[in-house]
Amino acid sequence: MLFGSRLAVVSSVLVSTIEAINIPPRTGHYRYQVGINKHVIEHLNANDPTASGNVSPSFLATIFYPTAAYSHGASTPYLNPGLGSLYEARWNFTPGLLASLTSTVQKDAPFLSAGDQTLFSTLLFGGGGGGHATECYTILVSELASHGYTVVGLDHPWTTPLIEEVYAMRMQDTAVFLDHLPKLAEELEAPFNTSYVGAFGGSLGGAAAVGSAYDDERILSAINMDGTFFGRAAVSTSDADVQKPTLMLGMEGHTGVNASLDITWGTFPRWQTDYFRKILVKGATHRDFSDITFWKTVRGSVRDAGPINGTRQVETMNAIVRAFFDFTLLGIPSPVLDAPSKEFPDLIFHGRNKPT
Ligand SMILES: *[C@@H]1O[C@H](CO)[C@@H](O)[C@H](O)[C@H]1NC(C)=O
Ligand SMILES: *[C@@H]1O[C@H](CO)[C@@H](O)[C@H](O)[C@H]1NC(C)=O
Ligand SMILES: *[C@@H]1O[C@H](CO)[C@@H](O)[C@H](O)[C@H]1NC(C)=O
Repeated sequence: MLFGSRLAVVSSVLVSTIEAINIPPRTGHYRYQVGINKHVIEHLNANDPTASGNVSPSFLATIFYPTAAYSHGASTPYLNPGLGSLYEARWNFTPGLLASLTSTVQKDAPFLSAGDQTLFSTLLFGGGGGGHATECYTILVSELASHGYTVVGLDHPWTTPLIEEVYAMRMQDTAVFLDHLPKLAEELEAPFNTSYVGAFGGSLGGAAAVGSAYDDERILSAINMDGTFFGRAAVSTSDADVQKPTLMLGMEGHTGVNASLDITWGTFPRWQTDYFRKILVKGATHRDFSDITFWKTVRGSVRDAGPINGTRQVETMNAIVRAFFDFTLLGIPSPVLDAPSKEFPDLIFHGRNKPT
């Protein structure tokens, strides 16, 4: 009992010094109805460069989806506690600050029933290589879920220095997951599309999303958010042509003309023959293509993030990513993918094929 009352004192101190801040509100039809559900996908990988003895038994799938349940404004911590304190230490935040951020995403909420409507479109997501888990992109992926997408983030629970091998492993996880998806949807009685998906990701996860699109006919279109391309996407020949819709969304410096700043952002666009956009964001750096850009608004600035207003960067990323999938998966055209607009003044249109 003594222990209990002490805990109560400690938590009331925390509550009084750190005011709970919600992540930005979602805008879709299901804005108060987004669920999160985690699954361990058993898959023995004997060539995992990140695991001890190079053998990993599983990876994690985190599903964000529209749910029948309403959140009624109830908020819960948006990062799991371990991740919250890890990032506080890495980015020099006051302990407890990131852990205090909340969201109204509902853990294990029921799936919508299939009814007679078309299935919800499915998106696969992959975060950056250095332990940037799907949760660090909660704002973007939950916004997409509020508009009716089911978004599955794939995380490998190990970090690593060997980027090209992790890239190959990411593509393997994606293929394994897509094989597993029909069975998973059946188990969950969840009404999402298991035949065709869009793929996107940040940094290494963005490069792998495009990498997977080449040979996997289940992937219809792909977005790379500021990642250096690898493998086939990085060669400067017609082999780099994905022959499917692709979008590069990146920082201002990723013009591709400066060899010291990632030449693959210059070569890849040259070879695309299908629908293609390359859109850069003024004032954004690599860090701004994740929830880190929102963390700036909590503390004023974050090391290595750019000067762009974090709230605007969130709105811009949310809108551009959704517009691309609305168009390439659902056939809904959107002018924001074609030219600068008053609403999104930070965008630089750097390359395109085919108008929407
Ligand atoms: C699955 O998604 C694809 C691509 O958006 C679409 O063409 C197909 O009709 C969808 N399947 C169902 C059953 O809704
Ligand atoms: C290329 O990028 C490097 C690294 O950011 C920078 O120092 C250099 O000035 C840039 N060169 C040009 C021509 O923009
Ligand atoms: C940042 O952008 C948001 C949304 O566009 C705006 O409401 C806010 O005033 C901006 N903040 C600053 C400091 O300019």
